[in-house]
Amino acid sequence: MKKTILITGGAGFIGSHVVRLFVNKYPDYTILNLDLLTYAGNLENLGDIDTRPNYRFVRADIRDTDQLSKIFSENEIDGIIHLAAESHVDRSITDPLAFINTNILGTVNLLNVARDSWKDKMNGKRFYHISTDEVYGSLGKEGFFYETTAYDPRSPYSASKASSDHLVMAYYHTYGLPVVISNCSNNYGPNQFPEKLIPLAINNIKNSKPIPVYGKGENIRDWMFVLDHARTIDLIFHKGRTGETYNIGGHNELKNIDLIHKLCEVMDNRLNRVRGTSAKLITFVKDRAGHDLRYAIDSSKLQNELGWMPSLQFEEGIEKTVDWYLSNQEWMDHVLSGDYEKYYHNQYHKR
Ligand code: NAD
Ligand code: TYD
Repeated sequence: MKKTILITGGAGFIGSHVVRLFVNKYPDYTILNLDLLTYAGNLENLGDIDTRPNYRFVRADIRDTDQLSKIFSENEIDGIIHLAAESHVDRSITDPLAFINTNILGTVNLLNVARDSWKDKMNGKRFYHISTDEVYGSLGKEGFFYETTAYDPRSPYSASKASSDHLVMAYYHTYGLPVVISNCSNNYGPNQFPEKLIPLAINNIKNSKPIPVYGKGENIRDWMFVLDHARTIDLIFHKGRTGETYNIGGHNELKNIDLIHKLCEVMDNRLNRVRGTSAKLITFVKDRAGHDLRYAIDSSKLQNELGWMPSLQFEEGIEKTVDWYLSNQEWMDHVLSGDYEKYYHNQYHKR
């Protein structure tokens, strides 16, 4: 069936994998990639598909209602997959307002434009909001996040995502906008900006620079390979029930320090270094303010309703990720040539 799908944030890490999957898998869909190209957006992520007849890029800002209205008046949009966001917790601690503007107000702009342009024909439409497990707050050593867990965000980033989730649901209840939401755990894989733990550590290990581990490295994250997330987004976009929320988890809980040791082993192996060389770079630094201890997802709703299963195990995923970064140094060089040095200095040399 012919459809036009608007994917916001499609030049970012997860968005670019979702765009590629949809462009390849659905030749009858037109994929409109709306992205502002902030520091985190990079069209090089899509170099392999950007000349495809069913793909179009439009540079626009979700904070700008006029730009959004124009896009909706020029295109008959059937579905939206909304990923555009400020996504890094550390940046949200330094500059919370940027997160409020993009993640909350930007999402409301998109909701308004979708509601207004779909008001006479909501049937068959879908507004899919991509969110994070961080909205649930922090777990102790036991337990899991369920879809019914009360929201308890603790960073400006997670509070802005929680707020946007509530607004999305409010538009479902109030205006009948056909929404669906998923809350996923930490992603890793190719094309992730090297401000996040895994690509930052890979880049530092490669360059024999210290690997900054916050606090004692005891914090636990549930890691999911990005292609698995993209595949799940496809499933939920097509099969998820309107008005529902689905939790997506990697089933790969790891303490940061254990993850870093694993990564060091893989890097030693790939770089032909003596075993133990990379681990010597591990440097414990001042903890993140309000650092959530543990995230862990219960995905049984997704498994029971949509027959979903996580596929890739961490061992395999981390090897693929390392190999991608090592064979895409040019991508890294371009990414690092922007404001990265300044960011890195402010974030790590002042700790
Ligand atoms: P990212 O930072 O790599 O990409 C964000 C993209 O949004 C970039 O391409 C950027 O240019 C674009 N963008 C930012 N502000 C914009 C604006 N005002 N207008 C238009 N485009 C704008 O982020 P990511 O890691 O790919 O995350 C994508 C989404 O998934 C986010 O909503 C995030 O909250 C969510 N999420 C991320 C993770 C994770 O581990 N990375 C986990 C769960 C959920
Ligand atoms: P990150 O990749 O920023 O994702 P999130 O904060 O969304 O979970 O961080 C993952 C974990 O790694 C988190 O517990 C913070 C920690 N961390 C470090 O120890 N050092 C770093 O330099 C970074 C960026 C993160």
